[in-house]
Amino acid sequence: MIIAVDGPAASGKGTIARALARHYHLPHLDTGLLYRAVAATVLREDLKPEREADAVASCGFDDLLLADEYLRTDEVGQVASVVSAHPLVRAALLQRQKRFALQPGGAILDGRDIGTVIAPNADAKLFVKATPTIRAQRRHAELKKHGVMVSLNKVLADIRARDERDTKRSEAPLLAAPDAAVLDTSFLSIESAVQKAIEFVEKQR
Ligand code: C5P
Repeated sequence: MIIAVDGPAASGKGTIARALARHYHLPHLDTGLLYRAVAATVLREDLKPEREADAVASCGFDDLLLADEYLRTDEVGQVASVVSAHPLVRAALLQRQKRFALQPGGAILDGRDIGTVIAPNADAKLFVKATPTIRAQRRHAELKKHGVMVSLNKVLADIRARDERDTKRSEAPLLAAPDAAVLDTSFLSIESAVQKAIEFVEKQR
């Protein structure tokens, strides 16, 4: 069984994908980390994320995938949404993701284009969303927990900027697949959101 989980930043898609992976005993790939690793390489090498050639040259990043905590920072996330708009970057990461999806026994992938591009024939597709304000509040609380002091307004502005880039790009924009079940987590606890996600998967598979 292949499960595709897509949605914007801080929608809850990562938490839901990890819970589904445990529930169904499936391997899970957070595809955002691949784009984040490209972004981290661009930053480390002092390259320009807007330049497609610079971003493509940063696609051999296996060492960086280990630096999980740094990859998950907002700074890296913003640059990830710039490098991910380049068609050649998406092409460089495509096969790796497709291979993961097609491994025997199935897989769960979360990202922006799993149901539309990476695994259009997935057995179940979820599109996880929440209002920008609620996503910003969640992200803000998480940052605070890790000792990062930043205003809620700044977090909200960053989320809106990333949404804007991810939905407006011409290549594989953030978009619910027509056959995806839409799960709005705005007013759901994590437990209820996971429960609903499992119900949706059971209905589709
Ligand atoms: O999911 P996460 O916030 O870690 O993703 C970081 C950035 O990587 C996103 O803002 C998006 O631009 C890009 N991304 C993408 N396609 C995916 C996963 C992430 O374009 N499948």
